[in-house]
Amino acid sequence: MILCHCHVVTDKAVHAAVDEGARTLAGVCRSTGAGSDCGSCVFSVRHAMRAAQSTAAAAVATMASELAEPA
Ligand code: FES
Repeated sequence: MILCHCHVVTDKAVHAAVDEGARTLAGVCRSTGAGSDCGSCVFSVRHAMRAAQSTAAAAVATMASELAEPA
C-alpha cells in the first residue's frame, strides 16, 4: 500500500527501512524519502514504522525464547 504519494513510498518500504536499522520517524523518512515534500503522510508512515517495530520485536522475542530452550 502506498503511504507517501509524493515519493511513492509503500508500507513495505517502511518495513524494510526498519529492518535495515531506521529507529525513528526521521530515520525512516530519510531512508525512504517519505515525508520530505507535502508531509501529509507522516502519520501513516509513523503507524507503519511502529507496526514494523512491533513485528521486529516479536521476532526477536521468539528467537530469544528459542535460544533459551534447552537443546
Ligand atoms: S505524501 Fe508523503 S511527502 Fe507528500
